[in-house]
Amino acid sequence: MFLVNQKKSMLEIKNLTSYVQDKPILKNVNLSFQIWKNYCILGENGSGKSSLALTVMWHPKYEITDWKITVDWQEINDMSPDQKAKLGIFLAFQNIPEIQWIKLFEYLRTIYNNSTWENLTFLKFKNFIIPYMDEIWLNSEFLRRDLNVWFSWWEKRKIELLQIKLLKPKYIFLDEIDSGLDVDAFKSISKLINQLNDKNNCFIFITHHFEIINNVNIDQVYVLKNWKVEETGDKTLIEKIKKE
Ligand SMILES: Nc1ncnc2c1ncn2[C@@H]1O[C@H](COP(=O)(O)OP(=O)(O)O)[C@@H](O)[C@H]1O
Ligand SMILES: [Mg+2]
Repeated sequence: MFLVNQKKSMLEIKNLTSYVQDKPILKNVNLSFQIWKNYCILGENGSGKSSLALTVMWHPKYEITDWKITVDWQEINDMSPDQKAKLGIFLAFQNIPEIQWIKLFEYLRTIYNNSTWENLTFLKFKNFIIPYMDEIWLNSEFLRRDLNVWFSWWEKRKIELLQIKLLKPKYIFLDEIDSGLDVDAFKSISKLINQLNDKNNCFIFITHHFEIINNVNIDQVYVLKNWKVEETGDKTLIEKIKKE
């Protein structure tokens, strides 16, 4: 029998300290995320959850001192968001931007072609994308609309999930994906997330509503407080936090 020493892919953040306009946001934060596992980042409003996700992807407003971020032990500190996306990092924003003059169709086609090095033509991509949209109950009429402009919360969230379906990223940060949804939308989104979650990816839920994670297996929980990771634990930590 062979014993294969498989390296488990992971995203690691070491000693992250960040500021916004000289105000500390995170101090010496160490976190790691492994493929096959799912994570939950909890913390009160203003504890730095969104800042953490934005920092991982890169955001101009944060001043970062002396950190190291790696994917499979390769340092990616200086990579652009675009390069990080190609490595398999994905962030679904808490506040999803609406972008005029960019059609949803062209946006999806561009990110797909860029990440896969394919060059699907207009027609080929249309035939390719419509079944995906059907799966998430999104009418193909949306393809002609400006990206997220006047979309409902539910529609915007579905566009994020559609991108996950298309790009098959490995490290998926979902920042409050449950906000702004009614009960039915909420149930559907949990179901879709459950379908997308497999052994080749890792979901990182940033939330303070716990229902969204009822249907997925959470392996590790990080709690942010006072600029730090105050507690780390397994799913039982969620129960404890709920009571508090
Ligand atoms: N542009 C900004 N200017 C000043 N303070 C900011 C800015 N963006 C975020 N912050 C502050 O950073 C802290 C963390 O915010 P955030 O990451 O959004 O928290 P969370 O997502 O956990 O609610 C908060 O105190 C917030 O007010
Ligand atoms: Mg937030």
